[in-house]
Parts: sequence; C-alpha cells; structure tokens
Amino acid sequence: MKELISNNTTKLMDWVEHRFPIQAIIRASASEYYAPKNFNFWYFFGSLALLVLVIQIVSGIFLTMSYKPSAEDAFASVEYIMRDVRFGWLIRYIHSTGASAFFVVVYLHMFRGLLYGSYRAPRELLWIVGMLIYFVLMAEGFMGYLLPWGQMSYWGAQVIVNLVGVVPFIGDLLALVVRGDFVISDITLNRFFALHVIALPLALVALVVVHLIALHEVGSNNPDGIEINDNLDADGKPLDGIPFHPYYTVKDIVGVAVFLIFFAVVIFYLPEMGGYFIEANNFIPADPLKTPEHIAPVWYFTPFYAILRAIPNPLLGVIAMGASIMLFFFLPWLDRSPVRSIRYKGPLTKIALTAFVIAFLGLGYLGLMPPTELYTQLARFFSLVYFGFFLLMPIYTSIDSTKPLPDRLT
Ligand code: HEM
Repeated sequence: MKELISNNTTKLMDWVEHRFPIQAIIRASASEYYAPKNFNFWYFFGSLALLVLVIQIVSGIFLTMSYKPSAEDAFASVEYIMRDVRFGWLIRYIHSTGASAFFVVVYLHMFRGLLYGSYRAPRELLWIVGMLIYFVLMAEGFMGYLLPWGQMSYWGAQVIVNLVGVVPFIGDLLALVVRGDFVISDITLNRFFALHVIALPLALVALVVVHLIALHEVGSNNPDGIEINDNLDADGKPLDGIPFHPYYTVKDIVGVAVFLIFFAVVIFYLPEMGGYFIEANNFIPADPLKTPEHIAPVWYFTPFYAILRAIPNPLLGVIAMGASIMLFFFLPWLDRSPVRSIRYKGPLTKIALTAFVIAFLGLGYLGLMPPTELYTQLARFFSLVYFGFFLLMPIYTSIDSTKPLPDRLT
C-alpha cells in the first residue's frame, strides 16, 4: 500500500514537473543555491522583511473586510473593528505594529548594506530595486496612516500634501491632484484607500520579486565583502558556500521565532508603544476645524521631517528632504574604497558611518519634538553630518587606509 502511494506520488510529481518545473525551481533557488557560509545577525532582516510583508497583506485583507473608506464612517469602523469584530483588535494591532516592524527590519536590512558594502558592483541594481521598495513602502505607510481618519491622520496628511504645493509653478495643481480636492477630504481618503490596499501592495510585491531575482543572479554579498564565486571546487561549487536549503532556511526560522516573540510582546502589551506606533491624537476623530498643537509624523519618517524643518526656506527644505532619500540611490558610485566590507575599511570610513548613524537617530528624535531654537540648530548640525556622509564619501573612501582582504571567508 505504502509503495503504491509512493509510486503514484512520484508519478504525479513527474507529471507536474514535465508541465511546470517546480522541483527544478526549488533546486535552483534553494537546495542548490549556494550562499556564503558566514552570514551573521545582519542577514536575518531580508527574510524578516518578507515575513512582515506577508503579515501586512494578510492582516490588511481582514481589516478591509470591516473597514469603511469614507470620511463619515472610517473612524467609527476602526472602533467597530477594535470593539465588536471578533479578534478585530488583534488584527488591527498586528497591522499597526507590522507597519512599524516593517520599517525596523528594513532600516536594519539597509544598514547591513552600508556595513558590508552590499550596494557595490555587481549588486547596484539589487540596491536600486531595494531603494524603490523603500520608496513605495514610505508611500504605503503614509497613505495607510490617513485611513483611521483620526486627528493625526488628517493633519499629518495635510502637512505632507502641502509640501507638494511648494513645487514652483505646478505645486498647487499637484497638491490638488494628490488630494482630489482643495482640502484633505472624503475624496482623498478614497484614493488613498485605493492606493494603499491595491496599487502600492501590488507594486511592492512585484518589486520584491524583482529584488529576489536580482539577488539570485549576482548571489549574496557577506560580512567579509569578498566573492565566494572566486573560489570554486572541482564541481564548480563555491568552496565557501553552503546550500541555502536546509542551512539558511533553518537559520532563518530561528530569526523568525525570535522576531515573533518581540512582535507578540508589542501587540499584546505595548500596541501603542507609548504613542510612537499609534499616537494619542489618533484616538480623536479627524476635525478639519481644529489643528492639533503639535503635528509630527510617525517615527519612521521623522529623520527626513527634521531635515525639512531644519531649513527655513520651504522649497529648499523640500529639496533637501527629497535629496536626503535620493542620495542612497547613488551609494554604489559614491563609495570608492577598494574593499566592500567595513571589516577591511579604515578609520575614516568607520568614523563617517558612526557619525551618520548618530545623525540619523538624532534627526529621528528631533523630528518628533517641537522645533525649539536649540533643537533646530541641532537638526541643522545633524543634517550637515548626514549630507557630509554621502557627499564626502568619494573623498574619504579614496584616501582611507584599508586592511588586506583574505583569500577565503574568515
Ligand atoms: C519589502 C522589503 C524587502 C524585502 C522583502 C527584501 C528581501 C531581501 C532578501 C530576502 C534578501 C536576501 C537575504 C538577506 O540578504 O538578508 C535581500 C538582500 C538584499 N537586499 Fe533586500 N529586501 C527588502 C528591502 C530592501 C531595501 C529597502 C534595500 C536597500 C535599499 C535592500 C537591499 C538589499 C541588498 C543590497 C541585499 C543583498 C545584501 C547582501 O547580500 O549583503 N532590500 N533582500
């Protein structure tokens, strides 16, 4: 009996394989896909980003079943989800926590790229696609935040959409197109809903697929920043590579388990995270006639918001804010070091990266705070450090000393 089932299963699998090469695909992308053997902590965040993407899509689908995208009903429908829908509170907190978790893992994922020079040739396109993902993710977070139609949703969107208005000549028209109205209104809510639940997630998933295809074409970088394909065995397999499956599938499961513990702690005990994940003002329905005293975006946008506010001229502020994100695209060409990984780079690069991290976190903090005189001056200083990291990179990476690269992974 057992033999009969096994024979028939093999026959069925062969039948499918001849029509759709599923086993060949799994072999090529997992059990016979070789990854460097020295992945460390920083390499968990790609698979975690994938996990959070799935969590957001699934929880989002369930939220959409009870959410009403209209200025009249949106706020009440979210309260209905929280109080009356079975496990609605859980679904909503999974989604709101997932939004912040997405940015946590993506920021750590990007930082790994900075540490090990993962953006360097031949991974420039992989990095650029990653940046496109980051762009879409920001739009996704921004539009999603309007949907609960709370005070912060409303006024946050008002501030950001008004930024479009500073573009010379066509600013007002652009802002009108984004809002679909002269103020943030029911029409705006409807179009943000359409973009948040369908257009942007589709773009995100498509870009992630492209990201992974690009990754598999060039192979992963690693903490040493040297190519494993430079050292092959007699069969043409990298000497310092191990099959992705089972080695990294199992390792990634450990990362997933640890991540889910933190994720669950936040969902069950700290869903608002002291106002950083869901702001107190967003428990008040949107009131177009009452501006909150202090408007700040969610934490993941605040470094850029602080740069915007640091510059007195609104147009220059918007340009600087845009440039602060765009500069990441150019990293593959700004970094002139002969080595990729921070492990073999010299003191100048290490100081520059440390200063950048402090400036980024500092700006993130300042963007949450009211712009006092002292804070504005500090934000200006951190903005200089931030831009200095990118614009001076061709110089300090060229003149910096480096350590000799090993022949094989360490
Ligand atoms: C939804 C968001 C994202 C997902 C699901 C995702 C997924 C992944 C996965 C699964 C890997 C391989 C595992 C790993 O190296 O950690 C990877 C590698 C990589 N990702 Fe992403 N990623 C995302 C966003 C980004 C962003 C925003 C950037 C940069 C701007 C980026 C840049 C890279 C680079 C450079 C690598 C290769 C790193 C190396 O080999 O050292 N990714 N990504």
